[in-house]
Amino acid sequence: MARNGKVTVVGAGFYGSTTAQRLAEYDVFETVVLTDILEGKPEGLALDLNQSRPIEGFETKVIGQTTGLDGSGYEAIAGSDVVVITAGLPRKPGMSRMDLIETNAKIVRQVAENVTQHAPDAVVIVVSNPLDEMTALTQLATGFDRSRVLGQAGMLDTARFTNFVAEELGVDVASVTTLTLGSHGDTMVPVPSQSSVEIDGTRRPLSEALPADMVDELVTRTRNGGAEVVALLKTGSAYYAPSAAAARMARAVITDSGEVMPVCAWVDGEYGIAGVYLGVQAEIGRGGVRRVVETDLTENERSALREAAEAVRAKQADVADL
Ligand SMILES: NC(=O)c1ccc[n+]([C@@H]2O[C@H](COP(=O)([O-])OP(=O)(O)OC[C@H]3O[C@@H](n4cnc5c(N)ncnc54)[C@H](O)[C@@H]3O)[C@@H](O)[C@H]2O)c1
Repeated sequence: MARNGKVTVVGAGFYGSTTAQRLAEYDVFETVVLTDILEGKPEGLALDLNQSRPIEGFETKVIGQTTGLDGSGYEAIAGSDVVVITAGLPRKPGMSRMDLIETNAKIVRQVAENVTQHAPDAVVIVVSNPLDEMTALTQLATGFDRSRVLGQAGMLDTARFTNFVAEELGVDVASVTTLTLGSHGDTMVPVPSQSSVEIDGTRRPLSEALPADMVDELVTRTRNGGAEVVALLKTGSAYYAPSAAAARMARAVITDSGEVMPVCAWVDGEYGIAGVYLGVQAEIGRGGVRRVVETDLTENERSALREAAEAVRAKQADVADL
């Protein structure tokens, strides 16, 4: 099997290490680089992951590299085709993602500046929170074309919505299609009108499969999906589903798949919204976002998306100074 390309995952915490594992196990990349500022942690995880290769049966090589705040060690990411930024603090119970903005902005800016220097041709996938703002900050700090900087949130939020619907109906997740747009926060926009379920070979709108109050309940649970996990874990935030989403995005880039995914992308006129990073569906390929794909929305969903855009626009303007 032909493997190609190099993907770097910055941050070897829960999100980063599981992302590196998934990327390595895909066996489509030549190299996965995992970095962190914690001395020895990325090297140790890389050694461990490489030792899983004979068992799992993949050949992708994992390289661990400690980096310094002065940028030392960043030579290891040279030539990366994709960089996934997971560096930053996760939430604790009771915190909103926005509570992380000042701390994580400093971390993400430092990482972004080193990515600019050492991997100037990479597509950058941001996952650090607050997601929409950290994606905007990464684009500002790197100066990369906006199509080459995107964020992961919508795939995760959509997967959560799908899982809740499937569990409620007692059907396979594969028979359920849902969608969430908007921000990765309070102004998330789950889109029931584009959600459906296949029952006995017939695809039905979600509104026919579940009563309206149950759809509302699942929408609310989806919007609070991250906080629900944080409250249970108490010491960190979710990483299995989040890493699955980021890894799929990185794979779509390296394989130039053209898959349409809900991601945080630069919106320039779509839905009558412009000049902001927002959760929308986009076609993903080798250069990052090929195009934003608009979908039919109800008037309510459309105005919720506009509200989300205005909410994140204000915050994204602030990150320039953080
Ligand atoms: N977008 C999403 O859907 C989503 C979902 C879950 C978590 N997150 C976010 O992802 C981030 C990581 O979460 P986690 O669970 O892996 O946290 P974690 O605490 O387990 O790991 C974060 C890692 O970042 C490292 N780090 C800190 N500063 C760094 C720097 N300057 N350079 C390199 N590495 C640095 C830390 O040493 C740590 O190992 C958090 O901000 C979290 O909120 C986003």
